[in-house]
Amino acid sequence: RTFDVAVVGATGAVGQAMMEILAQRGFPVSRVYPLASERSAGEKLSFGRDEVIVENLAGFDFSKVQLGLFSAGAKISAEYAPKAASAGCVVVDNTSQFRYDNRIPLVVPEVNPQAIEGYKDHGIIANPNCSTIQMLVALKPIYDAVGIERINVATYQAVSGTGKEAIEELAKQTSTLLNGRPISPQAYPKQIAFNVLPHIDDFLDNGYTREEMKMVWETRKIFGDESILVNPTAVRVPVFYGHSEAVHLETRDKITADEVKALLQQAPGVTVLDEHTNGGYPTAVTEASGRDPVFVGRIREDISHPKGIDLWIVADNVRKGAALNSIQIAELLIKDYL
Ligand code: A2P
Repeated sequence: RTFDVAVVGATGAVGQAMMEILAQRGFPVSRVYPLASERSAGEKLSFGRDEVIVENLAGFDFSKVQLGLFSAGAKISAEYAPKAASAGCVVVDNTSQFRYDNRIPLVVPEVNPQAIEGYKDHGIIANPNCSTIQMLVALKPIYDAVGIERINVATYQAVSGTGKEAIEELAKQTSTLLNGRPISPQAYPKQIAFNVLPHIDDFLDNGYTREEMKMVWETRKIFGDESILVNPTAVRVPVFYGHSEAVHLETRDKITADEVKALLQQAPGVTVLDEHTNGGYPTAVTEASGRDPVFVGRIREDISHPKGIDLWIVADNVRKGAALNSIQIAELLIKDYL
């Protein structure tokens, strides 16, 4: 059986990766409909060996498709995802719009695939935040083996997470500055080239940013564990593709670094690269960018805590952090439910 699929936000950073990954993985597509704003309607995009034409989301009839992959921002999802769902299209939504709604499942296939079933009520499944996805894929086996009480995490997040304008801005700022000319920041409040910004998404009343709180809320929802403590600092770095994370865990029971390494070597979706040599660790550019796995290195016991484990976790934020995870959800959905 094949499916008609709408990709909402198909001209964006994540939407383009969705089109690519659908074709690469041989998702059983009969027809793909790339949708975007009226600005892009009529543009041509490639889909495998074919060329497809972008249509205006506003006029699209969702009863023509069985599946919709949404990545055009929370406001667009708020308006169109329920319309699509009531037309019989199951929505996998990559925005934050429905993630904290108890009626909507929030799914990482390697972590809580059973939650997908919850789509039946409202026809929508939410795809988590990029930083949460890669962290939980790596932490799941440790959580299952010994429990996790607390997670301290600092992220090093690529500009592609912001979208295609930010990708262009980093490239342009870099070349402008190297040519000795002044820049004026647009996508971020400060210069991003050659700089590091401890600020992603809006500031909240508790002093954390929304990006940081997403990691708190989503970790609890996906693990189904309201007791897990998460203390994030989310940082934007001048990297195009690939988020890195320095993670410090406090487990319930003691586990050694060797045991963690052995668990992660067996874990679905994880590639361990952990040698105590020059370059014996994963990085965004060299390993993660353009690839599917969540890479883990620098696995060690925390010398400051009896039940502490340190990890360095890296993944392509546009793929596993967004497009790939959405398509893996869609694959489970068609295998088990549609
Ligand atoms: P468009 O290219 O026509 O603006 P990114 O996250 O990389 O910035 O991409 C955002 C995606 O969301 C793009 O595909 C963009 O289409 C789409 N988008 C933005 N606003 C709208 C809108 N009002 N209606 C439909 N699609 C939209």
